[in-house]
Amino acid sequence: MDLASFAPHGLYVPPPVLEAAAHVSGMAAYRKLVAQAQADYGGYWAGIARDVVAWRTPFSKSLDESEAPFYKWFADGTLNVSWNCLDRHVQAGRGARTAIVFESDAGTVTRVSYRDLLARTCRLANALKARGVRRGDRVVIYLPMSIEGVVAMQACARIGATHSVVFGGFSAHSLRDRIEGAGAVMVITADEQVRGGRHLPLKAIVDEALALGGCDSVRDVIVYRRTGAAVAWNPARDRWLHDECAVQPDSCEPEWVGAEHPLFLLYTSGSTGKPKGVQHSSGGYLVFAAVTMKWTFDLKDDDVFWCTADIGWITGHSYIAYGPLALGATQVMFEGVPTYPDAGRFWQMIQRHGVTIFYTAPTVIRSLLKAAEADAAIHPDRYDLASLRILGSVGEPINPAAWEWYHRNVGGGRCPIVDTFWQTETGGHMITPLPGATPLVPGSCTLPFPGIEAAVVDEAGNDVPNGQGGILVVKKPWPGMIRTIWGDPERYRASYFPPELRGFYLAGDGAIRDAGTGYFTITGRIDDVLNVSGHRLGTMEIESALVSCTELVAEAAVVGRPDDTTGEAICAFVVLKGSRPMGEEARQIANTLRNWVAREIGPIAKPKDVRFGDNLPKTRSGKIMRRLLRSVAAGQAITQDISTLENPAVLQQLAEKI
Ligand code: WT7
Repeated sequence: MDLASFAPHGLYVPPPVLEAAAHVSGMAAYRKLVAQAQADYGGYWAGIARDVVAWRTPFSKSLDESEAPFYKWFADGTLNVSWNCLDRHVQAGRGARTAIVFESDAGTVTRVSYRDLLARTCRLANALKARGVRRGDRVVIYLPMSIEGVVAMQACARIGATHSVVFGGFSAHSLRDRIEGAGAVMVITADEQVRGGRHLPLKAIVDEALALGGCDSVRDVIVYRRTGAAVAWNPARDRWLHDECAVQPDSCEPEWVGAEHPLFLLYTSGSTGKPKGVQHSSGGYLVFAAVTMKWTFDLKDDDVFWCTADIGWITGHSYIAYGPLALGATQVMFEGVPTYPDAGRFWQMIQRHGVTIFYTAPTVIRSLLKAAEADAAIHPDRYDLASLRILGSVGEPINPAAWEWYHRNVGGGRCPIVDTFWQTETGGHMITPLPGATPLVPGSCTLPFPGIEAAVVDEAGNDVPNGQGGILVVKKPWPGMIRTIWGDPERYRASYFPPELRGFYLAGDGAIRDAGTGYFTITGRIDDVLNVSGHRLGTMEIESALVSCTELVAEAAVVGRPDDTTGEAICAFVVLKGSRPMGEEARQIANTLRNWVAREIGPIAKPKDVRFGDNLPKTRSGKIMRRLLRSVAAGQAITQDISTLENPAVLQQLAEKI
């Protein structure tokens, strides 16, 4: 522990040099912003919106609540997101500046300037238009981490098409559901994705998805040639990206859209039913992505920013594709995985590229910590990480031990860690330290971003006193918030604005505020959503996938259990149609079911444990006793009342590991 930054009261205070130069410098500045937002909410956000976004036509009003909870922000303003991210910097004479330093899986480095990124975006935008993609059309993007991925998103934004990026780890089935849900006219993909030396045939997965049916809206499949692997070709539908772009000019007049125009959909898991298409706006979203990028990371001109998330997740949208580009930043983008060729890869890349701001997930920290403890040769202290000035964490709670290790060994004891709490639905950081202002407590995401009215309430929406746990809500709408669930406004209302919470936004997490500091600690989801390595999955989704294996499965229940590395691990309790299997047979069937789930949803949803019982523990009314199953999965003693259980012996069966 670095004593210089460790205050006696147990808080890590911002390093004075960092604080002095920060965009938000010191707690007094933070409090001033909070007070400004409280005094004049619309005026506060209007000021920020004018500062971080260039509007084609100015907006006259910040927030329109007339159709709450379908809020509108800056509604009569017009803009183009890609113009903000690209042209703006080129026109300001910063076109030669590096936008993206891309490192491939094998270590090849490619730099692209803002000028080049603009030209490439324009070519693809023109190509999309030439294929008939129009303002408001949906385009599904199923691409690896690549400059092309960012170009594809920006090209959609340029012509007013709404993109829906699907993470490369999702299966053909999940991809099909998302294509169908969005009614996409086009899919942009690659021949293959390369991660950790392994090739994944993305184009073949798209072919399979389209063959599953329900995707008649898709007219064209554009294919980025990443590896040159042979791919099946449908000449009526498939086009090479390089052929399409070669014939297009490198300028393209942007489509000016209203602030509420849907920039993108991003499917995410809920507690029930199918994944929901979270719809984000253009203006409010960009304002929020940009201001959180600027303040949470204290972004300056000479920073080299690196967010390790995939563009298939919201983190890759807000803090790769949009936030950094809106501010004209230089960022590193990486194709591969943290453990290839060895678990020192991230530290080596920070050293090689002089990264100053590093943003990753707790699961990564925990696995690299373990690897470093096992092999001193890839310990961060073997690398020169002196360029770092700010560290970030996202996706799940970071446990204090991992926090301390990250702070000491990666940050050299001198870099604040911003533990950013937010969600797909929030568009950007909601509760987070600001590095030049907020004293840090390991394990706490500290205080709301200035202007965000986060609170902890009871089930009737009343504030609970600090020190007492409750439900995390946001009391006022904010610019980056979800606008609706694509095609299902009623589900939007019911999921996020339940009547008993008096119009507050329901995050779906529990939280507790410290009695002394008022700092927030997130206690985890209060619904049936799991967080595995920072990936969000619904237990019902996995259960549906299991019971869709009708040949084998009679019934299934899925719960999470704590896991040292992945945060939560998926534990599936299964009743088979035949008798309960034992020994080798149980192992085989468990593997069959794991692979089945991988095929139905994607490898990220594979249950870690599969356990078999003659039946599942249920209440008298027939509801599966999930809390009980959670205790069984965690290997805890049963404290619940099990007197109503018809067959208590089944708990013994379900506790047995295979
Ligand atoms: C859920 C949202 C936001 C980008 C990645 C995840 C959990 C996220 C934190 C954090 C504790 C966190 C919450 C949240 N979560 N960040 N810093 N501390 N929990 O986005 O897939 O929409 O998942 O991730 O449970 O609700 P997402």
